[in-house]
Amino acid sequence: MMKQNTPLLFKNILIFIIFFLSSCVKEKEIKGAVVSAREEASKIGVAIMQKGGTAFDAMIATDLALTVCYPNAGNISGGGFLVYRTFDGEVGSLDFREKAPMASYPDMYLDELGNVIPKMSTLGGLSVGVPGTVAGLVEIHKRFGTLEWDELVQPAIDLARNGYIVTDNQEKSFKNKKEEFIALNGVETFYAQNFKSGDNIINLALAETLERIAKFGKAGFYKGVNADELVKRVKETGGIITHEDLLAYDPVWREPINFQYKDLNIYTMGPPSSGGICLGQIMKMIEPYEIGQYSQNTIEAIQIIVEAERRSYADRSLYLGDPDFINIPEDSLLNENYLKKRMSSFDFNEATKSSEISPGTIVWEESEETTHYSILDAQGNAVAVTTTLNGSYGSKVFVEKGGYFLNNEMDDFSSKPGVPNMFGLIGGKANAIAAQKRMLSAMTPTIVERNGKLAMIVGTPGGSTIITSVLQTILNVFEYEMDIQTAVSAPRFHHQWLPDVVVFEPSRFQKSFIDSLQEKGFNIKEEYTRIIGRVDAIHISSSNIITTGADPRGDDKAVHLY
Ligand code: DON
Repeated sequence: MMKQNTPLLFKNILIFIIFFLSSCVKEKEIKGAVVSAREEASKIGVAIMQKGGTAFDAMIATDLALTVCYPNAGNISGGGFLVYRTFDGEVGSLDFREKAPMASYPDMYLDELGNVIPKMSTLGGLSVGVPGTVAGLVEIHKRFGTLEWDELVQPAIDLARNGYIVTDNQEKSFKNKKEEFIALNGVETFYAQNFKSGDNIINLALAETLERIAKFGKAGFYKGVNADELVKRVKETGGIITHEDLLAYDPVWREPINFQYKDLNIYTMGPPSSGGICLGQIMKMIEPYEIGQYSQNTIEAIQIIVEAERRSYADRSLYLGDPDFINIPEDSLLNENYLKKRMSSFDFNEATKSSEISPGTIVWEESEETTHYSILDAQGNAVAVTTTLNGSYGSKVFVEKGGYFLNNEMDDFSSKPGVPNMFGLIGGKANAIAAQKRMLSAMTPTIVERNGKLAMIVGTPGGSTIITSVLQTILNVFEYEMDIQTAVSAPRFHHQWLPDVVVFEPSRFQKSFIDSLQEKGFNIKEEYTRIIGRVDAIHISSSNIITTGADPRGDDKAVHLY
């Protein structure tokens, strides 16, 4: 009789158990997801879907949760854009971008000599645009909500009452901005409390504001106690928003920008965002070059992308602004022949000079924060939302009794033709300030279809780098066949016509590579510590496998629905 080898038997049983368990795990199919800047917010969105809510319901809850636990960008007091695709293929977009107060006028940030007064459009009450977020969320609920409104607000109220945990990144961010918080709001201000990583922040004032929003909807923010406090705080800090401004705010449903790139059909945000038109222009300029023949981030691929970006951002400065105020030659800007002509001066041997595309010299200034989230529900409804206070913590003006910061979106206007805003972007008449006008944005919430099926939900913060980060993520997946997480994490670069500089994420590109680009006449900036985008995306394969990419550059987190 053969002697039994007991250790071997155990080993085989163990291998069998491991194999069995791992195959069980694999079978756990992802049915939907929320990818956002904070785990708490992603979890809240998924919990709403588990309760039977759709991606639109989840959006409202996620957005409000970000207001609580991501106060640098999540907001009820800023604005944003939604691009959606329903399970049956209907697409649309909602513009809940801030507006200039009624008392605004073109030269409001200029001194007697006609020079831009530093910081006037970025810090304090005068930098605040009339907020659009709450009106936007209520509008989305009216059209698409399936759960009750107050049910969707409740998780954020609970988060504000029970608290959220400070991350390492947040500790640093609060510390960096503490002086500005105090300068505008006094030493007693809520967010100057030296919060440390691991602390639990309870924001009772915000909980009460959210309770009013839960009870009265739009009126809970734009009327009554909240309106009084907001208007008072803006006035105290030098601003001009009135009750009338708040009452007059309405979001607008707009046609998304739609264009084809090879077998992709892309829906993205149109004006007052420049995102969609620029993304379309850049991709259409790239398309004839078959960029997939060069590997990702090779010199040739980067040259093609940078030269297309240069030309598109130049157009942006001249033609784009609020479509309710100016005529935008959308079709011409996206016309294939026009875009082919634009690229006719491109030469692989030598960089085009931005001054040859259009003149100007500017200084690149520091970037701040916005936030994007992507949501997919089990039915297949897809939601891409980018929302912002503009700068990190916006104007730094804190409505103490309301528990929230106000935006500084007015800086997205062109204060003076040719003078850069805080993202180094310049503009002219098309984006000049006017009462009730919306300031031009770069936010690019985007939905990609492939062969008629939903394939990707994507977007990012990053000011002027938003468009180029969305672009690179799409190319990484569809041209370079990366999985979505690798595509999101991959090193990025950015060019925006002016300044005539290509920015590379520091230490992520080889020196010899940078040297070669410099030899071709590209001005390179690599030492800059700015993060280029923080992309949160969802990919749906042709066989309906759902995967997610949360940007490791932040605290971003994908939570799955099973
Ligand atoms: O709308 C825009 O384009 C800007 N206000 C976005 C600001 C932003 O993304 C800041 N984040 N890094």
